[in-house]
Amino acid sequence: MALFTSTASTTTALIAILLLLLGCSTGLQTQFSVQCFFKKIPKSDVDLLEFPLNLEYLEAEFFSWGALGRGLDSFAPNLTMGGPPPIGVTKAKLSPVIKDIIAQFALQEFGHLRFTLNSLYSLDNSCHSPFTRLLAIQKTVPGFPRPLLNLSAASFATVMNNAFEKPLEPPFDPYANDINYLLASYVIPYVGLTGYVGANPKLQSPTSRRLVAGLLGVESGQDAVLRALLYERAFVKVYPYEITVAEFTNKISSLRNKLGKRGLKDEGLIVKPIQGAEGKIPGNVLVGDQYSLSFGRTPEEILRIVYGTGKEDKPGGFYPKGGDGKIAKSHLRHEVMHFNKLGV
Ligand SMILES: *[C@@H]1O[C@H](CO)[C@@H](O)[C@H](O)[C@H]1NC(C)=O
Ligand SMILES: *[C@@H]1O[C@H](CO)[C@@H](O)[C@H](O)[C@H]1NC(C)=O
Repeated sequence: MALFTSTASTTTALIAILLLLLGCSTGLQTQFSVQCFFKKIPKSDVDLLEFPLNLEYLEAEFFSWGALGRGLDSFAPNLTMGGPPPIGVTKAKLSPVIKDIIAQFALQEFGHLRFTLNSLYSLDNSCHSPFTRLLAIQKTVPGFPRPLLNLSAASFATVMNNAFEKPLEPPFDPYANDINYLLASYVIPYVGLTGYVGANPKLQSPTSRRLVAGLLGVESGQDAVLRALLYERAFVKVYPYEITVAEFTNKISSLRNKLGKRGLKDEGLIVKPIQGAEGKIPGNVLVGDQYSLSFGRTPEEILRIVYGTGKEDKPGGFYPKGGDGKIAKSHLRHEVMHFNKLGV
């Protein structure tokens, strides 16, 4: 009897050790159950959560430099994960209120980067048992370093020239004053917003959807603030061009529709009443579809827009070497294969 008990307890101890080695697997090991909840997050969710880092890095640098004259390398170097510094970004000539708002946006983007990078890291690591870690079976860490960003005045000038389908003279300078900086800012957060709306239905785990909802809330708030500030100035002419702020926004939105290649998902500040809320009003401080719901875009549509090339496999624009992460890279690989076929 005594012998049996001791065998049984030895067996229990062995099972416990085994379970510890294998990490989470049964209800017995409650101390692992919280972390291992994350194990249910499929790889496709991780890829979709990682993709927006491309835009978050861009916004963090553009806002931080624009308002404060310094970027991630100065304020939060570990968030760059060693990626190269952005090209041509500089401090903008801003009035105190705009500078204050943009500084807040910059810090919000730092938070988004920090949380996204940390979440991806823990999603990836929390469910690997000491055993698999020991054998280094697990090797790919999701999340990626800051990609090369071209935030030079010339890069924004090119967007504006493409929007107007002719070169503006003198070239548009995003850093020259409040209005120019707000117009340049109009170019990006809205694209991120449509990306979060597009990603949400494809996410399978509630944890991923919670993260994206949180990012979407603040991103659309930023877009709303930028649009409201521009809306106040809708009929102001952008110096020295004889072109109003509203016309700039309409042209930038049309360009994004053209590059995205999936119909109308973008609208300027003043539209035909049929495009306004309930088809009844020309003022368009926020963008929405016929039911005033936000439009969604796929990662491919977003890449076509931010590359400025209309092609997800042809980097350019703000991303001279393309975006990073599994989704963006998968398209770049196609290009390499394509070139190989051509024998280049
Ligand atoms: C960067 O460092 C700060 C503290 O210095 C830390 O709180 C944060 O989690 C780190 N972020 C990453 C992505 O490692
Ligand atoms: C940055 O963009 C501008 C405008 O498109 C271009 O002239 C310049 O060569 C780019 N710089 C790099 C390093 O890609």
